[in-house]
Amino acid sequence: MGRVRRLVLSGALLLVPAFVAAHAAVAQSDTGYAGSAACLDCHKKETTAFQGTRMGHLFLSDPRDSIQARGCEGCHGPAKTHVESGGAEPGGLISYAKASKTSVADRNANCLRCHEESNRLMWTGSTHDRQDVACTSCHTVMKNVSERNQLRTADVTETCAQCHMQRRAQQIRASHMPLGEGRMGCASCHNAHGTANEKMLIQPTVTETCYTCHAEKRGPFLWEHPPATENCANCHEPHGSNHEKLLKVPKPRLCQQCHVASGHPIRPYSADPTFSRFIDGRQCTNCHFAIHGSNHPAGQFFTR
Ligand code: HEC
Ligand code: HEC
Ligand code: HEC
Ligand code: HEC
Ligand code: HEC
Ligand code: HEC
Ligand code: HEC
Ligand code: HEC
Ligand code: HEC
Ligand code: HEC
Repeated sequence: MGRVRRLVLSGALLLVPAFVAAHAAVAQSDTGYAGSAACLDCHKKETTAFQGTRMGHLFLSDPRDSIQARGCEGCHGPAKTHVESGGAEPGGLISYAKASKTSVADRNANCLRCHEESNRLMWTGSTHDRQDVACTSCHTVMKNVSERNQLRTADVTETCAQCHMQRRAQQIRASHMPLGEGRMGCASCHNAHGTANEKMLIQPTVTETCYTCHAEKRGPFLWEHPPATENCANCHEPHGSNHEKLLKVPKPRLCQQCHVASGHPIRPYSADPTFSRFIDGRQCTNCHFAIHGSNHPAGQFFTR
């Protein structure tokens, strides 16, 4: 059975001639369409660049469905009027240019015909969809710019930075995760196509998102520190910070947002005259070491 199928398939492939002839044939069978061969005269540069992309290969040389078999017009719509007018008239042409008459929603729907599955199941109604962000704000399909995913710029972070300049700026603060270094990107925590979670995070909560890489912070701990179990962003600014370890607020002020320093002096060791200096000047985590939670016998206060 497999063998017969393969034979049939190779027969079909033999019937697929060079794309010029193939697309001329499509043109004859349907009015309004000109066929990709007709574009070559005037758009040689675009056609050559497109051929070098993954989608270009499919649409122009190895079509797998009726939309791909339309070649250029599979995305740009019927272009016969455009061709016959020598390029002067757009006719039914679908353009993805910024000033296009085609609405962003229609342009996106054109891509979603084939790409609604998996990562884009939550696109409709996502923040980017509601803000009229186009697929082509982040992707360019006519040529290869990025190494992967047909992005508009060299990498994910630069692509996002087109609009989220402040987030990118944070990446160059003294403390940051290795985004600029290329080891991760905005998409390590966000799915820009939309998710069911707040802030388009890839996991249901901030904490779960962080655990995908910092699994050791999950515990389980005998002694939990409630703010860490609740939300890592209580203390950390994930996009980058000028304070050490991505902290939102420097120590000890970080801790004193929630803990009154006057708690310590009522302890026996408060007789130590230097202790208040410890509170003011020293880092709480020198003593409260396991601040994310502890299993240590001496752990109730997260000390060593
Ligand atoms: C006789 C020359 C000619 C032919 C043939 C031709 N075009 Fe064009 N096309 C033009 C010219 C001229 C423009 C305007 C270019 C510009 O504004 O920079 C253009 C613009 C376009 C644009 C951009 C429109 C926009 O606003 O973004 C698209 C898309 C396009 N053509 C697609 C096609 C396709 C697909 C075919 C083949 C079916 C085709 N063209 C055939 C000359 C041609
Ligand atoms: C998979 C969908 C798709 C196919 C197939 C496709 N295009 Fe495009 N085309 C686009 C998008 C999207 C843009 C907007 C620029 C971008 O994002 O790359 C565009 C832009 C253009 C432009 C405007 C110039 C520019 O780069 O902005 C021309 C001209 C054009 N395409 C011609 C063609 C021709 C000729 C073919 C066939 C060889 C073709 N396109 C096939 C999606 C497609
Ligand atoms: C007719 C169906 C079809 C249409 C329409 C279509 N694509 Fe694709 N696209 C594909 C296929 C098939 C692939 C290749 C998938 C693979 O090789 O795994 C692909 C690949 C991609 C990739 C991934 C490329 C990579 O290097 O991994 C991106 C991004 C993409 N398409 C975006 C778009 C955008 C944006 C549009 C609208 C302008 C669009 N596509 C229109 C079928 C389509
Ligand atoms: C705000 C930016 C942004 C927008 C808008 C966007 N994408 Fe993407 N897309 C990305 C990024 C970033 C990746 C790479 C994801 C990764 O590295 O995990 C990607 C990957 C992809 C891929 C290849 C991998 C995969 O997920 O299958 C396809 C196909 C794709 N996008 C299609 C689309 C389509 C269709 C639209 C419009 C409905 C769209 N994208 C809108 C940023 C965007
Ligand atoms: C074309 C502009 C544009 C690009 C490019 C873009 N965004 Fe956005 N993004 C917006 C707008 C507009 C909003 C809504 C207003 C705001 O929060 O700034 C938004 C909001 C967001 C939000 C908040 C979501 C929420 O529900 O509150 C996240 C997270 C986000 N974008 C991530 C990304 C990532 C990751 C990328 C790159 C893959 C990216 N964006 C690329 C325009 C863009
Ligand atoms: C390590 C995970 C992580 C990375 C990487 C990351 N983010 Fe975020 N992002 C978050 C979290 C968590 C939130 C929610 C923050 C909060 O609740 O304080 C968020 C929120 C946002 C928001 C919404 C801000 C608001 O005030 O509503 C935007 C926009 C955003 N991120 C864009 C980006 C961009 C652009 C990049 C890449 C430069 C990026 N993020 C990289 C984790 C991340
Ligand atoms: C995709 C993986 C990944 C995700 C998701 C992730 N991180 Fe990271 N994080 C890293 C890497 C890699 C480092 C650098 C570690 C190193 O250099 O040893 C790091 C470092 C850190 C540091 C130490 C920074 C410093 O200056 O030493 C903190 C704090 C941190 N992450 C917090 C978070 C928080 C909070 C979240 C969730 C919002 C998160 N991380 C999500 C990969 C990730
Ligand atoms: C109560 C505040 C607080 C919360 C909440 C918190 N952290 Fe931290 N985190 C800190 C402090 C303080 C440091 C620096 C420790 C030091 O002084 O050595 C730190 C350091 C880190 C580091 C780098 C050093 C290390 O221990 O690996 C990572 C990674 C980290 N935190 C991840 C997380 C993650 C993931 C979460 C959420 C599960 C989280 N943090 C929640 C206060 C907090
Ligand atoms: C967002 C608020 C918040 C921040 C910021 C915070 N904590 Fe806590 N911390 C709590 C809560 C709530 C508890 C649980 C109190 C309880 O069980 O009575 C707790 C418990 C503790 C305990 C154990 C107390 C006991 O009686 O078991 C210590 C020690 C502690 N925190 C130290 C710190 C240090 C050091 C920092 C700074 C790195 C810090 N905390 C930052 C909210 C916070
Ligand atoms: C010199 C070491 C040291 C430093 C520095 C220190 N602590 Fe403590 N702290 C302790 C010890 C030891 C205990 C446990 C006392 C006990 O056994 O009853 C404690 C107890 C606590 C408790 C639980 C008891 C209470 O009073 O509620 C909290 C909360 C706390 N510390 C917060 C902090 C904060 C916030 C800072 C920084 C401003 C800090 N500590 C600095 C050693 C220290």
